[in-house]
Amino acid sequence: MRHLIIYAHPNPNSFNHAIMEMVQAELEDQGHAALVRNLYEMEFNPVLSAKDFELFGQHELPPDIEEEQGHITWADHIIMIYPIWWASMPAIMKGYIDRVFSYGFAYKYGADGIEKLLLGKSALLLSTHGNTHEQYEQSGMYEAMQKTTDSGIFEFVGMKVLVHRFFASVTTIDDEARKQMLVSVKELLQKLHR
Ligand SMILES: Cc1cc2nc3c(=O)[nH]c(=O)nc-3n(C[C@H](O)[C@H](O)[C@H](O)COP(=O)(O)O)c2cc1C
Repeated sequence: MRHLIIYAHPNPNSFNHAIMEMVQAELEDQGHAALVRNLYEMEFNPVLSAKDFELFGQHELPPDIEEEQGHITWADHIIMIYPIWWASMPAIMKGYIDRVFSYGFAYKYGADGIEKLLLGKSALLLSTHGNTHEQYEQSGMYEAMQKTTDSGIFEFVGMKVLVHRFFASVTTIDDEARKQMLVSVKELLQKLHR
């Protein structure tokens, strides 16, 4: 299986970075291909611009979008790894979606409405956050994020969201608890992909 890991965190010493490394290592151990797109390290430009629209209008693509679309076409599975910032994904990752999941590549308008162009691919989302599990469960925030991200983005383009796993309270728990979370990521991948 071909896995594309799309990762957004500016700090190479972050917990998110540890998750990303664990995911890549586990998938490679399982014999899968795992390509990481480290958006901050790549200095990915997340701004969907007038120039982009101009090129789309001429049926052309900016080279960075063309490259990323190539990676998505290549992949069977997409894994998104990111911290929750303001109840959503970091802007650099949202901008990746804005620019790369473009009209005609990820979706289009057909005679019967929206056509999903990325059918057959699956997605796994791993998100850390500072609030407690109880706060986010009770406030309906998990449900809201699953609606706007899992459904509004990935299912909209035809991907099957296998799991959206949230790691709560990561800013206040101790190292042992974070290690347990990393073990649970490994176990999740073993369950999903063996
Ligand atoms: C700009 C910003 C916005 C944040 N917004 C939220 C939020 O809406 N909800 C939440 O629970 N945590 C929020 N946090 C906390 C982060 O989710 C938390 O710092 C991160 O998941 C920790 O993982 P890391 O150690 O890999 O950075 C925010 C942090 C930052 C820097």
